[in-house]
Amino acid sequence: MSVNGPRATARAARRPEPRRPALAAAAVALAATGALAVSTAGLHAAGAQSTDEPSVWDGVYSEVQAERGRKLYEASCARCHGDDLSGANARPLAGESFIRDWGGLMLDGVLTRARTMPPGGAGSLGEEGYVDIVAYVLSANDFPHGEGELTAARAGEILVYGEDGPDAVPNFAMVQVVGCLSREERTWFVTDGSEPIRTRDPEVSAGDILELTRAMPLGGNTFELMYVFPSPDPYEGHRVEAKGFLIRRDDAGAADAINVTAVASLSPACAP
Ligand code: HEC
Repeated sequence: MSVNGPRATARAARRPEPRRPALAAAAVALAATGALAVSTAGLHAAGAQSTDEPSVWDGVYSEVQAERGRKLYEASCARCHGDDLSGANARPLAGESFIRDWGGLMLDGVLTRARTMPPGGAGSLGEEGYVDIVAYVLSANDFPHGEGELTAARAGEILVYGEDGPDAVPNFAMVQVVGCLSREERTWFVTDGSEPIRTRDPEVSAGDILELTRAMPLGGNTFELMYVFPSPDPYEGHRVEAKGFLIRRDDAGAADAINVTAVASLSPACAP
């Protein structure tokens, strides 16, 4: 695969402009804490990015590096992830699936995961080998190359997002919201809900992330909670955090849903 095809150039020209939506101040705070940038298990508030923060659209790897990565990839990864990264026998590392898994998160998450590969051979390609493979993965996703090489240290500062821009939380992404827990007949909802924020952690928030979650303001969103178990009965009317996979509903009037992995009470009252 060419790492510098015309497609890459065309797409680079259409680089999505980072927008700054009226995201909750606390979400900005979430993104601003070092905790989030260093921990890919933490939250990352996509949308809270300032325009000078580097992203995968900024030419963060070199062509030569991606070419080195391609050779390693073909030798050690392609048999499972496919010659074109479309995921022959494992998860795709390119296209929509890549953005769904990694969009809104920092690039070091990809690197950390890559280091566990191939299964049974974690770390076997050496520190630089994995960084080179990540450079190749970026090129195969048509992110533009630049002059300088990607390094492990820089990967923690580089935001991954797709053509829909940094604010777009992809369908089926794991998210966190805060809001008021309510019930209509047998269906649970989060009302007055915040914007969904991406997370890699399906569990109830703890530590610093919990403190930041408590500080998140409510918003105007409603989410239906699907497959919430055990019943959150004791938290009805509480301010809660809910985590799970976001399911966007296109029909007008239908609330987006969250296929729930965790619901926890933040406060027994829920004043918007
Ligand atoms: C023997 C098959 C196999 C080989 C070889 C292999 N992988 Fe994987 N890889 C997997 C499986 C299985 C998963 C988990 C799939 C899932 O989460 O659904 C995975 C997951 C990943 C993920 C996480 C994907 C995501 O979006 O969550 C990355 C990144 C990755 N592999 C990179 C690599 C790299 C880089 C190499 C080569 C050094 C490699 N893999 C070699 C089987 C393989």
